[in-house]
Amino acid sequence: MVPLIDLKIQHRSIASEVEAAIKKVCDNTAFILSDEMKQFEEEFASYCGAKHGVGVANGTEALFLALKALNIGQGDEVIVPSNTFIATAAAVSHTGATPVFVDCDPETYCIDPSRIGSAITEKTRAIMPVHLYGHPADMDAIMGIARANGLKVVEDCAQAHGTLYRGKHAGSIGDAAGFSFYPSKTLGAYGDAGMILTNSDEVADSLKLLRDNGRTTWYEHAIIGYNSRLDGIQAAILRIKLKYLDKWVEARRAHAQHYQELLGNVQGLTLPIEKPYAKHSYYVYVIRTNNRDAVMAELKEKGCGCGIHYPLPLHLQPAYAFLGGKEGDMPVAEEYAKQIISIPMFPELTSEQVSEAAGIIKDVVQNV
Ligand SMILES: Cc1ncc(COP(=O)(O)O)c(C=O)c1O
Repeated sequence: MVPLIDLKIQHRSIASEVEAAIKKVCDNTAFILSDEMKQFEEEFASYCGAKHGVGVANGTEALFLALKALNIGQGDEVIVPSNTFIATAAAVSHTGATPVFVDCDPETYCIDPSRIGSAITEKTRAIMPVHLYGHPADMDAIMGIARANGLKVVEDCAQAHGTLYRGKHAGSIGDAAGFSFYPSKTLGAYGDAGMILTNSDEVADSLKLLRDNGRTTWYEHAIIGYNSRLDGIQAAILRIKLKYLDKWVEARRAHAQHYQELLGNVQGLTLPIEKPYAKHSYYVYVIRTNNRDAVMAELKEKGCGCGIHYPLPLHLQPAYAFLGGKEGDMPVAEEYAKQIISIPMFPELTSEQVSEAAGIIKDVVQNV
């Protein structure tokens, strides 16, 4: 069996370092807004080439608080791709603003910049591109549209640790960016965790109030804020894992290259591409085929782990039915949602496992 993902192997490779780091936090009882958190904020921001990092409880709240810090709320609209995890749009909804869905680029699966213009109204305040699967959205085009229309840009980097756009890290380009460190992410914590990156002093200051009940001194509160802090144990673990991130991204890229060699010529199969401006970090490796459900059933039967990121575009989700989205609104996202399959991808896969998975996929796609 080749699993879709296995977190245990990675844990075993760093277990002694992680256990020592947890012990240190416990010995110091430095659980909340600790030095470990501040150091991880600095180290991750510096890794990405951003001025500030603000650690928060998870990726959803990173996006939500980034929007709040940019003063987005009731009556505003934020443009988001339809083919993403629901948290992208939920973060917008939680501010009181309305997500406006846009279809995806047929090659990169990220928001299609050529479709953003027609989604802009006088209520639009921001664009939230998602660097989906680890491939960067076309940031020059998106920043150009945003600047021409006076809009903010919040990058959803939940899947983009180690992703580059024209040599710059995802998360260092827009007005702010939200990262998730959910355990299965390319840089994953041992629980929930998230961070906002920004180059703006003002936005960073505002975020530090928002995440900590608006606190200026222990019992003095400048605003009504939230409780959304990155805890010390998670920060200590993430500091250790950050040292290995580049190595792990390179391992993912090597597996992607290997899949390309083994599956590139298989009829009826579309593999991910990497645009000239991109360095893909392959958070997930997504292929497309017809007869998707039958193919997946066979893959599982034959021992190749697989999944779907994501089976239903957001404009068709029950949670967003009140916005009136209907079948046919986003033809590319809708077609792809029926064709996509995520296949085994994690740094610790062996070359033999990639060959085995590719062999099963080739056989199944040619025979179903
Ligand atoms: C694209 C995207 N945005 C946002 C999130 C939310 O992150 P979290 O699960 O840490 O709240 C995720 C994570 O699953 C994601 O994949």
